[in-house]
Amino acid sequence: MFSHISLALTAALLLSTAFASKSADVNVLYNFGNSTWAENLAVRANGQILVSRLDKPEILQVDPTGANSPITVASWDSPTMSGCLGISETTPDMFYVITDGVYNADSVLTSGVNSIWEIDMSTFAVSKKTGAVVSNATVSKLVDITTSGLLNGLTTLTDHTILAADSHNGWVYHINTHSGDYKVAINDEKMKFDYFPNPTLNIGVNGIKVYDGHLYWTNTAAGTLNRIGITGKGTPVGKSEILANNVPKADDFVIRSDGTAFIAQNQVQGNELSVLYPKSHVAHVIAGSNTSTIVTGVSAGKFGRLQNDKHILYLTTGSSSVTMPGTVSWVDTTKI
Ligand SMILES: *[C@@H]1O[C@H](CO)[C@@H](O)[C@H](O)[C@H]1NC(C)=O
Ligand SMILES: *[C@@H]1O[C@H](CO)[C@@H](O)[C@H](O)[C@H]1NC(C)=O
Ligand SMILES: *[C@@H]1O[C@H](CO)[C@@H](O)[C@H](O)[C@H]1NC(C)=O
Repeated sequence: MFSHISLALTAALLLSTAFASKSADVNVLYNFGNSTWAENLAVRANGQILVSRLDKPEILQVDPTGANSPITVASWDSPTMSGCLGISETTPDMFYVITDGVYNADSVLTSGVNSIWEIDMSTFAVSKKTGAVVSNATVSKLVDITTSGLLNGLTTLTDHTILAADSHNGWVYHINTHSGDYKVAINDEKMKFDYFPNPTLNIGVNGIKVYDGHLYWTNTAAGTLNRIGITGKGTPVGKSEILANNVPKADDFVIRSDGTAFIAQNQVQGNELSVLYPKSHVAHVIAGSNTSTIVTGVSAGKFGRLQNDKHILYLTTGSSSVTMPGTVSWVDTTKI
């Protein structure tokens, strides 16, 4: 009896040590300067990274080799637009991005409207010699989501449909990128910011991803990663479940092909990058801590798409602090 218990204990200790020993060094690829906020990112097939800025409505292309300076791909100049958020690719080089109106501290829209824009990168060209833009991306508005509160994460469902998370209302829109038609497709209690009592902020469903027949999402206020079955038409199937509830301030996340989730934990109490292994229900911090500034304001992650960087997880980080920069950073996930 006793030996069984101690064996189990030893195994548990070994297991937790094995997890605890997994950590990743964080490297800065590009620093946008203090008081900036890189919010989300998408990687093009050619390896270049499209970064959305939350502190102003702007999309930049960042070179993963660092050889070229960031290039502005799209920018908007409007007092009723606050910034850019989720970005996702449907067909090759066709990207969609969320722009939001202006919010107060309770995440309530006070002016403007949240919209989805189309960014066709197939018309974008840069001079190899000078690095100057010789042909712009084609940017056009797809639709205003007039019923939305705070649009945040964006993901692709099919080659002509995308899903957008509304963090304030706690639901997910299904949007047809050909017609602009949209509707609330998934409205689950685990997406609400007050799913657990006494939330410290009014941000529920945030990052969303479709993986293995399920819609996965983080709930920032609840500090959870969740999922529910989903059809190709965006209809929920079965019951939702909480996969992990130890990811305070969970922002966006990415799921590796083996099912491992890398979860960005933004802001106070967060500032951590955690992993949740498949079948596990406890996430483990691999970088940062709630008292360090290594990944301050880590907001989202995407893997590289080239042979030499597909194990590299690129991260956006953001901070409204005058002493902390927004960055594109990266970690090598080979040993994670
Ligand atoms: C690209 O767009 C910018 C901003 O509108 C403009 O200043 C620039 O001239 C355009 N470049 C080309 C090559 O059309
Ligand atoms: C940091 O995390 C530790 C461990 O989870 C917790 O005990 C502590 O209260 C946290 N500190 C802050 C400032 O959130
Ligand atoms: C950002 O803030 C840090 C910490 O105060 C400071 O050392 C650094 O010079 C600042 N950077 C810029 C570009 O102002």
